[in-house]
Amino acid sequence: MEEKTSEQLEDGRLLFARDVDFMRSAVSLETLPPPDLPEVCFAGRSNVGKSSLINALTNRKGLARASNTPGRTRELNYFNVDGRLFLVDLPGFGYARASKVDIERWQVLTRAYLQGRPGLRRVFLLIDSRHGIKPLDVEVMDMLDETAVIYQLVLTKIDKIKKGELSKVAEKTQKFIAKRPAAFPFIAQTSSEKKDGLDMLRAEIASLALPANADR
Ligand code: GTP
Ligand code: MG
Repeated sequence: MEEKTSEQLEDGRLLFARDVDFMRSAVSLETLPPPDLPEVCFAGRSNVGKSSLINALTNRKGLARASNTPGRTRELNYFNVDGRLFLVDLPGFGYARASKVDIERWQVLTRAYLQGRPGLRRVFLLIDSRHGIKPLDVEVMDMLDETAVIYQLVLTKIDKIKKGELSKVAEKTQKFIAKRPAAFPFIAQTSSEKKDGLDMLRAEIASLALPANADR
């Protein structure tokens, strides 16, 4: 990701040092909270580490439910960060062992959310650094390019891969997004396990939140 100034890093640190509250789980578009705040969401294949990343960013272990069992997150889970931003944990896509009806339901909901949610400032699209971009990821990118919702790729679980391998994947991924209209040009790299790359991501997210001292 591009360099952050010390001020930006401090903004990120402060935002996540404040209250982060679980707000609600939504299973339909009708039960989403009113779009009163800017929001960012975490999307990606099942098991890529979305819930773990939310826990790591917020320094709260059990805030978002993370699990070894793919398909753990089945609703859109809303978190309110200091009254300045919503974080949204999405169900993973591509989980083959759920029932057809369930898969259908989550994907229709997730799709509708990604395409039409007012206030959605950025989609963090997580990619397992060991596997790189997969066809399902491309489908999501196509959809977001079409609707012009900005998405930023995050290479996850970088503790699981050698440095040299990581540079190769990062380079390849960077090339892949170069000509995609709605792709944010900087790719993040994170390890929720080792707490790597979190400060930069916090700073990025803080730049999308309401200002700290706004009248609210
Ligand atoms: P769904 O809700 O099923 O879509 O999955 P998810 O994307 O929320 O993944 P989750 O955070 O539940 O993590 C899946 C598994 O990957 C868990 O066993 C985590 O402990 C593990 N994991 C997540 N992030 C990291 C990481 O940075 N490093 C390592 N080594 N493991 C990780
Ligand atoms: Mg999850």
